[in-house]
Amino acid sequence: MAPARRPAGQCPPLFPEEPQLKYEALDLKIENNCATLTMNRPDKLNAISKIMLEEFKHAFVALDEREDVKVVTLRGAGRAFSAGADLDWSEEMTPKQRVEHNRIGQRMVAMMERMETPVFAAVHGYCLGGGLELALGADFIVASATARLGLPEITLSADPPYRPKITEDGDPDQPEYGAVVPGWGAPNRLPKRIGKAAAMEMMLTGSWVDAERAFKLGLVTDVYAEDEFDEKVTELGRRIGAMNFYNIRMIKELIVNGYDVLEGHPS
Ligand code: COA
Repeated sequence: MAPARRPAGQCPPLFPEEPQLKYEALDLKIENNCATLTMNRPDKLNAISKIMLEEFKHAFVALDEREDVKVVTLRGAGRAFSAGADLDWSEEMTPKQRVEHNRIGQRMVAMMERMETPVFAAVHGYCLGGGLELALGADFIVASATARLGLPEITLSADPPYRPKITEDGDPDQPEYGAVVPGWGAPNRLPKRIGKAAAMEMMLTGSWVDAERAFKLGLVTDVYAEDEFDEKVTELGRRIGAMNFYNIRMIKELIVNGYDVLEGHPS
């Protein structure tokens, strides 16, 4: 049984009895002490909608309080991890709403990054824009050989032929809204993973990298064959989930804060 983290009653669970939380844009499964949060808008390539942002924020707080969750895996349903922020939604936004939208996205990714529970993203297919910004908030990323990762924000208002097909009939990101750059923290997080030069290249060109190049850059830590991807990701979650609850969190605390050592845990 997982050790109790706080005396009973001191911190009431956000979701009392329910082991399987229900969301609209996310699917959540908890197995073998690993929570898998799957973006579940496959017909829209898991474009990150406002409701999905809010559900992520909710889930990150809730999962961090659970004694039966030792690690979280982020995934996408269907043929992509995520093609980024929902552009249909952003098209309707006023400049003020656009700023607020970025703030919600920033907070959401920062909340995940600050979880005590480690998180890894398992990406396949498209992992673009907000999808990559989300993955960069995770502690590490593993990829299917099918993965294509990039930050195409700069191309949304580019001259042809570099603009994505989705904006061909009108560009929601025209200059009246100010600069359009990755807004959920990638300019901060990406250079720390792959260095300034490679991050600049990716962000200035908006071009995607395939899984092999992402691995060489250090953007992903491992690449799995497409037909083994689900199995390998499940095994990774199960393996981390088999470790001691306190040790897992202490490793994250040590690494994130750059400490040599912390006092031992009580178990
Ligand atoms: N926001 C909203 N909807 C999106 C989306 C996004 N970011 N990305 C894809 N979709 C939707 C498409 O509109 C389409 O919906 P529809 O079937 O109702 O028309 C569906 O997802 C499938 O996308 P489609 O473009 O038909 O697939 P594709 O395989 O031909 O192309 C991409 C895939 C990823 C190249 C293309 O969808 C794309 O360029 N998306 C935008 C990526 C981007 O710039 N993201 C950064 C946002 S910050």
